Amino acid sequence: MSQMNRIVRGLSRRDFMKTSAAVGAAAMISPGVFAAAPEKLRIGLIGCGGRGNGALNDCIEAGKIVGIPTEVVATADWFKHKAVGTGRGKGVPEERCFGGADCYKKLLATDVDVVLIATSPNFRPLHLEAAIKAGKHVFMEKPVAVDPPGGRQVIAAGELAKSAGLAIVAGTQRRHEASYQKMAHRIGEGAIGTILGGAIYWCGGALWYQRKNQNESDADYMVRNWVSFTEMSGDHIVEQHVHNIDVAMWYLGRPPVAALGFGGRARRKTGNQFDFHSIDFDWGEGCHIHSMCRQINSTDGRVSEYFTGTNGTTWGNGGLNMFNKKEITVPDFEERNPYVQEHVALMRSIIADKPLNEAKNVAEATLVAIMGRIATYTGKLVRYKDVVENANTPWYNLKCSPSAEDFEKGAVKAPADDVAAIPGTD
Ligand SMILES: NC(=O)c1ccc[n+]([C@@H]2O[C@H](COP(=O)([O-])OP(=O)(O)OC[C@H]3O[C@@H](n4cnc5c(N)ncnc54)[C@H](O)[C@@H]3O)[C@@H](O)[C@H]2O)c1
Repeated sequence: MSQMNRIVRGLSRRDFMKTSAAVGAAAMISPGVFAAAPEKLRIGLIGCGGRGNGALNDCIEAGKIVGIPTEVVATADWFKHKAVGTGRGKGVPEERCFGGADCYKKLLATDVDVVLIATSPNFRPLHLEAAIKAGKHVFMEKPVAVDPPGGRQVIAAGELAKSAGLAIVAGTQRRHEASYQKMAHRIGEGAIGTILGGAIYWCGGALWYQRKNQNESDADYMVRNWVSFTEMSGDHIVEQHVHNIDVAMWYLGRPPVAALGFGGRARRKTGNQFDFHSIDFDWGEGCHIHSMCRQINSTDGRVSEYFTGTNGTTWGNGGLNMFNKKEITVPDFEERNPYVQEHVALMRSIIADKPLNEAKNVAEATLVAIMGRIATYTGKLVRYKDVVENANTPWYNLKCSPSAEDFEKGAVKAPADDVAAIPGTD
């Protein structure tokens, strides 16, 4: 196999066969992954909406920076016209622009090397697992699940990708943003000492919403109006605030132990999400971090992170106040648009045959956000172990319905609009 073939496939047979676990995983991966590859990265996009089209352009830009030719070879969207629209702009023939619930399967059956996944989050576990089993490298948008089983499915798919030598990079772009990378380094070097507390924020305005059209199927309606339904987005604590939760997880190096919080709904018109969540995350070792997120117009906004430590305080990517003025040498980090930089990192890792794998990080941040949502919806104290480990708790197997599989079976009944969770009632 030529060097470029190995680069494009991201599979070193030497590494791949290293462990018996990998041999087991190999049996699950499509043999197509070992076939001859083109002298370029073939890109496919699942989910041709705002972010999907943005990610596609970022990926092409990254190819130029890294010096690998890219070719968009297939697109897929629930709505075929959207796949065709994106494909047309990138020179993809219409027969490789797929629509419908199984469009991702059709795209994964092509010779695509790197798949960008930017659908609504509820489909992420299903699509990611299928992509890895088809032997594809993946860029996937955050968040990566809407319920605990989905989060754990992503962690498992990440492990499978490791065995198969496949890369997974997630759209938690702060991890590829120089200002955050520098702060992570400084905190790791003890700039503020041991973190004892903080606050994380995503307070902003309302997003868009869609009304159900006459005679429209429930499935189409939910796909179009996904930012209104918890079953599709995870609620905005998962869909947006996951970024800030991820920064806290990164800087603290561990997940929180438990969540207790409250939230409510006041101004939304459709779907069943809350408008705001406020949570005390008990991060263990005496550390508490207040998480707040709100989507209400004409309120004051803040999207950020703040940490207090034994030796200082800091915001997430600036405003460092070190009590003891410690000297810390910070390595160079590339100052580039993080939305492009995440694709640069993905491609470089494929080229070096050292596939980056961010599945666990983003899945854990998603699971923490889901834990927070369960806490605000129920009013109960929810422990992280209840979503990742304690199979006998109600939260462990909590699966949103309709599920991604229901969409594929054509068995979707939309939850009632404007009926939200009432804490203390279950
Ligand atoms: N990293 C970031 O800063 C960032 C910013 C915006 C959005 N996002 C994430 O990107 C994802 C997409 O968001 P968006 O703003 O592009 O939404 P969007 O509604 O504009 O696009 C989603 C697209 O996915 C398609 N789709 C839905 N279900 C599908 C399925 N089963 N198969 C194929 N296609 C399907 C829809 O038809 C739509 O075209 C979300 O997870 C969102 O949280 C991340």
